[in-house]
Amino acid sequence: MSTISIIGAGTMAAAIGGRAVAAGHTVEVTSRDPEKARALAERLGAGATTGTYGGVPSGDIVVLAVLAGGAAAVITDHGDALAGKTIVDITNPIAPDLSGVDTPAGSSGAQELQKIAPAGAAVVKAFNTLFGSVLARGEQLDVFFAADDPQAVQRVTDFIAGIGMRPLHVGELFLAHALEELALLLIGVARNGAGSFDIALKIDQA
Ligand SMILES: NC(=O)c1ccc[n+]([C@@H]2O[C@H](COP(=O)([O-])OP(=O)(O)OC[C@H]3O[C@@H](n4cnc5c(N)ncnc54)[C@H](OP(=O)(O)O)[C@@H]3O)[C@@H](O)[C@H]2O)c1
Repeated sequence: MSTISIIGAGTMAAAIGGRAVAAGHTVEVTSRDPEKARALAERLGAGATTGTYGGVPSGDIVVLAVLAGGAAAVITDHGDALAGKTIVDITNPIAPDLSGVDTPAGSSGAQELQKIAPAGAAVVKAFNTLFGSVLARGEQLDVFFAADDPQAVQRVTDFIAGIGMRPLHVGELFLAHALEELALLLIGVARNGAGSFDIALKIDQA
């Protein structure tokens, strides 16, 4: 098992960190607020550690579990410290009034992050189509992810499978746009047709 670094200490950091710890990974939590990182690491237990905001994360996989509006700042604050890392972007840049996905035309939040990531760092869009409360239950779920880089695809495939879920590579990073729209669709289904956030998307395969 390996070290998984998570930047952010909120709901999704706790859900992904919890699953990683349960699968035997060492989790490193980093937050711009060191006290929040320490509190989550203590909650996760199993030897979870804290990292230094802006420093080199211990893990090859770095889960970016911050609000979409802060994601670019996290990348630039870390700069070359993220070189060579697989950056898992779980953010949903959805407008607060749920009127749409707030990204430049023809792009996605993940592609915008890739543009400012240091050399050798590969951004992967993943986990953004799962609600944190559902993820935290530890069930087998489908995890859609978009990625260009073959090494990043392999790392994320192994990580998702290792924490008891089904990795579903949807294709190259430009498809992050579709995954971000898919998250908006899922929220719409939760608020309307299903009437519950206790739902997850699943691909049926005969
Ligand atoms: N919750 C879900 O069900 C869900 C599902 C799929 C995807 N997502 C996405 O996952 C991401 C995290 O969501 P969450 O529910 O975990 O949110 P959350 O509980 O509000 O936690 C957000 C985290 O982001 C940090 N943060 C916010 N702005 C930042 C900035 N400018 N620089 C550095 N750190 C910053 C916060 O730090 P402070 O505490 O210091 O503010 C906190 O640790 C979001 O992008 C969201 O769209 C959430």
